[in-house]
Amino acid sequence: MNLVIFGAPGAGKGTQSALLVSELGYRQISTGDLLRKAVREGSSLGLEAKSLMDRGQLVPDEVVLGLVRESLGTLNGVPFILDGFPRNLSQLSQLQSLLSSLGLKLSRAVFLSVDSGLLVERLSGRRVCSKCGSVYHLIAKPPRTPGECDLCGAPLSHRPDDKEGVIRDRLGVYNRDTAPLKDEFRKLGILAEVDAGRPETVVFAAIRSHLGK
Ligand code: AP5
Repeated sequence: MNLVIFGAPGAGKGTQSALLVSELGYRQISTGDLLRKAVREGSSLGLEAKSLMDRGQLVPDEVVLGLVRESLGTLNGVPFILDGFPRNLSQLSQLQSLLSSLGLKLSRAVFLSVDSGLLVERLSGRRVCSKCGSVYHLIAKPPRTPGECDLCGAPLSHRPDDKEGVIRDRLGVYNRDTAPLKDEFRKLGILAEVDAGRPETVVFAAIRSHLGK
């Protein structure tokens, strides 16, 4: 059962995808993570992406589609979650063509619904491990030792796009470009809406029940 997980910045897409990976054996394809990896590696794609990401703007469709195409080609039948893709109507239509050319199908699009005030709180308190990418929150999910990853001990950092002004811009882009996808997934008959303003484990239980697992 292949999934899209979507929702506003900070809705918990990465957090819930990590649970789907560890508990249900999914492979996560996160375009945000793939782009941040390209930025860290200093590739030309990464350099092009960085200035857009730091301003909360979308990276060109053909760049992210190339990353998704490459990841889908390595699955060998493992069910996948697309996290952060598609991000607009054009990406959705390109995804549909790509999946049909690969003989793959989406079974659910899980929409994580969260109030905007809570989103800002989540993003401004988020800290991310600079080495393994584990995600924390200063209040909701603090690391055992402040500033250090529980899993690998590497320092935690604040994402450059989690600054207040950029968060506002990202929410604007989400409302303009990504929110309309909800109606499209509803028309396709695969929309599953989850109240994601609740604790992490409660949200995960709701997702599982939409998946019948
Ligand atoms: P991306 O990395 O996809 O960012 P995003 O969509 O803005 O989402 P986030 O990663 O910020 O949030 P999330 O929903 O995963 O929340 P998380 O689980 O971490 O994209 C970054 C940039 O890359 C984009 O701006 C764009 O430039 C570019 N990009 C990416 N994809 C693209 C595409 N397809 N096309 C073009 N450009 C693209 O949780 C957030 C915090 O809340 C954490 O601290 C977490 O611990 C906490 N938390 C989570 N769930 C809960 C809960 N239930 N209760 C309490 N706290 C919680």
